[in-house]
Order: sequence, then C-alpha cells, then structure tokens
Amino acid sequence: MKTALVTGAARGIGLATTKLFLAEGWRVAMVDRDGDELAKAAEGLSNVKAICRDVSVGQDVGAIIAEVTEWAGQLDALVNNAGVADFGPIDETDFARWRTVMDTNLDGVFRMSQAAAPLLKRAKGAVVNIASISGLRASTLRVAYGTSKAAVIHMTKQQAAEWGEFGVRVNCVCPGPVRTKLAMAVHSQDIIDAYHDAIPLGRYGTEDELGNVITFLCSDKASYVTGQVIAVDGGFESTGIGLPSLRS
Ligand SMILES: NC(=O)c1ccc[n+]([C@@H]2O[C@H](COP(=O)([O-])OP(=O)(O)OC[C@H]3O[C@@H](n4cnc5c(N)ncnc54)[C@H](O)[C@@H]3O)[C@@H](O)[C@H]2O)c1
Repeated sequence: MKTALVTGAARGIGLATTKLFLAEGWRVAMVDRDGDELAKAAEGLSNVKAICRDVSVGQDVGAIIAEVTEWAGQLDALVNNAGVADFGPIDETDFARWRTVMDTNLDGVFRMSQAAAPLLKRAKGAVVNIASISGLRASTLRVAYGTSKAAVIHMTKQQAAEWGEFGVRVNCVCPGPVRTKLAMAVHSQDIIDAYHDAIPLGRYGTEDELGNVITFLCSDKASYVTGQVIAVDGGFESTGIGLPSLRS
C-alpha cells in the first residue's frame, strides 16, 4: 500500500487531500500541531496515523519521520501543506512576526523535505509543496507570507533539480483563495469581492479542487512531471486588469 505524509492534515486543504489519497487506496500519515482538531479529523478514517507534531520544530521533524518509518516502513509522497497566514503592513511586521511565518511556511518545508529524502529516494517518491498565488503575485500586507511562499516556489525547483537523479519528483501547487479557516481569518468581505472580480472563474476554489491536483501530482499519472509550479486559482494568476468591465 502506498504511503503519503500530509502536513497540516487536521483541516482545510490538508484534510481534503488526505481523504482523496484514502479514496485512491493509499494510507496517510496525518501530521498537525493542533491535537484536538487532528483527533477529530482522524476519527473514523481507516489507514491513517495521526501524528501531533509541529513542522517548525527540528526535533518534531525527526520524530515525524521516525514514526512514519515505524508505522509504514516506506514513504511514497510528502505533501508539505502546513502553513500559517499573518497579513500586516511592512512597517508593523516585526522580526518575531516575520520569523513565525518563516518557521512554518519556509523552514518547515525545508526540514520536512530533507528529513524525508532518504525514504523518498528509496521509493522513488514525490513531493508536493503548497505555496500560494501570494508567492506568484505581490499584494499588500503579505511581506512575510508572500515572501515565504515565493521562496517555497524556488525551493521546489532546487529540490527537483537535485533529486531527479534519484527518481524523486518535486512539484509546487499554488492555491488561489479557498474558504478555509486560514483564509477566512484574513479575508474581509472587501477582499472576497475583489477576488471574485479578479478571477476569471469568478469564485473561490474548494478544498477538493486543490486536493485533486495535489494527489494527481503524487500519482504515477504525473510520472514525467517535476520542477513545475501549478496555480490552482481559477485563472487569477494568468490575467491582468479589466475583467469586471469586460464581463459587463
Ligand atoms: N485557503 C487559502 O485560500 C489558501 C490560499 C493559498 C495558499 N494556501 C496554503 O494552503 C495550505 C493549507 O491552507 P488551509 O487554507 O487549508 O489552512 P488551514 O488553516 O485550514 O489548515 C492548516 C493546518 O496546518 C496546521 N499547521 C499550521 N502550522 C503548523 C505547523 N507548524 N506544524 C504542524 N501543523 C501546522 C494547522 O493547525 C491547520 O490544521 C497552507 O500552506 C496555505 O498557506 C491556502
């Protein structure tokens, strides 16, 4: 049975991705630092192992890989999905706020990928890093978040370049807006309306629409795809100005 490790699996995009893997016959190590949510999410699911750990903590990262090795003995896919959003003006982003975002969004992806690499090389497995459209296009209030995600996009290419010779594929998914707890904490009604205006498909995405692309990239169907950055964003990244006028 193929094994995936999904970080930030207690809710949102990570939980939807977990369920899609299970439907495809995989087993899933669900990692999240929110123990209560994780226990609720894992309840009733078969072929999962809930691991309550924090990907921004070095010791936890080692422990996660040790637990997965003991549970499954192999790892075929790593989905670096855990992320935090903290939107604020540059002038109010002190170094502590900056570090909190980087600790999870950037350092967490680096550490998890590096720790999982031996298992992934053995399995000729796949990594999918979750960045954001905020890493592709700048916007206000995202100096830490957007920069962390832009770095993840580039790290994906570095990893693909080095691990290709071991048969490990590494790709990046950049979600557009999805109505998860993370997004709703920082999206006011004004922002929601502005996104609808700027997105050709005219709506937010769903968790499953993200999960479908993530699981595809981890599957053998994507066996010749590596080093790619795929925006799953209703067309937001590809467009310029004028959509609302053209529609009316
Ligand atoms: N929802 C959106 O609109 C959107 C848009 C672009 C990118 N993304 C990205 O998609 C990913 C998933 O986002 P979501 O909207 O599903 O978020 P969410 O907040 O609903 O879920 C994220 C989960 O990650 C966990 N988590 C956070 N930091 C962690 C850490 N250090 N260690 C372990 N677990 C941790 C949280 O406890 C939570 O359960 C994130 O990387 C986010 O930046 C989301």
